[in-house]
Amino acid sequence: MKLLAPSILSADFTNLSQQLRFVEMGGADLIHCDIMDGKFVPNITFGPLLVEAVNSTTELPIDVHLMIEKPQEYIKDFASAGADYISVHQETVTHLDRVINQIKENNCKAGVVINPATPVSTLEYILNIVDYVLLMTVNPGFGGQSFIDYCYDKLDALNKMKQERGLDFLIELDGGVDTGNIKKLSDAGCNIFVAGSAIFNSDNITAATVEMKNLIS
Ligand code: DX5
Ligand code: ZN
Repeated sequence: MKLLAPSILSADFTNLSQQLRFVEMGGADLIHCDIMDGKFVPNITFGPLLVEAVNSTTELPIDVHLMIEKPQEYIKDFASAGADYISVHQETVTHLDRVINQIKENNCKAGVVINPATPVSTLEYILNIVDYVLLMTVNPGFGGQSFIDYCYDKLDALNKMKQERGLDFLIELDGGVDTGNIKKLSDAGCNIFVAGSAIFNSDNITAATVEMKNLIS
């Protein structure tokens, strides 16, 4: 399965419904919403109210990426706002098994995220119960950064663990994904591709979406 998830972090918020329409027309599969609290990451974005607004504007499923401390306290709020996928950072959660189950109990796909410097080996046991793993391929906090090259090795290692154990979680990558690397990442086993600046900073958002979709299909 190959899904393209435009990240609205780089969208024009004064025209958000139009921007969502542009990526829908290009064949986007999910809308990626980056939630930042200014503590876990050095930036602040938006909360459930905006996710609710996005949900009322698009038919596409919503992929919520929580870059916040104590994410367990907000799962219900984001699920009620219309999230279909919710991921939490391994680095922020003490009781990860509990939080993954909490996300599932709220009828959302449950994902775990790790920062570039966090080894995939830390996920050994949680891989049995997650719906997807999100590998950060930049340090979280900002759009428009360059892909960190050693993350190719992490993608290979994670994909190997998945194959060897016969597991069916999806692999999502986030940060620095563009038309120059997306095909290589797809061939290496990535299933869900987050792209912010590569889509929303382009001159033609729909054409950029179509181009990325073509490269992964
Ligand atoms: C960064 C966010 C990303 C961001 C990606 O912390 O998690 O989702 O929007 O932006 P690009 O695609 O521009 O690297
Ligand atoms: Zn993200």
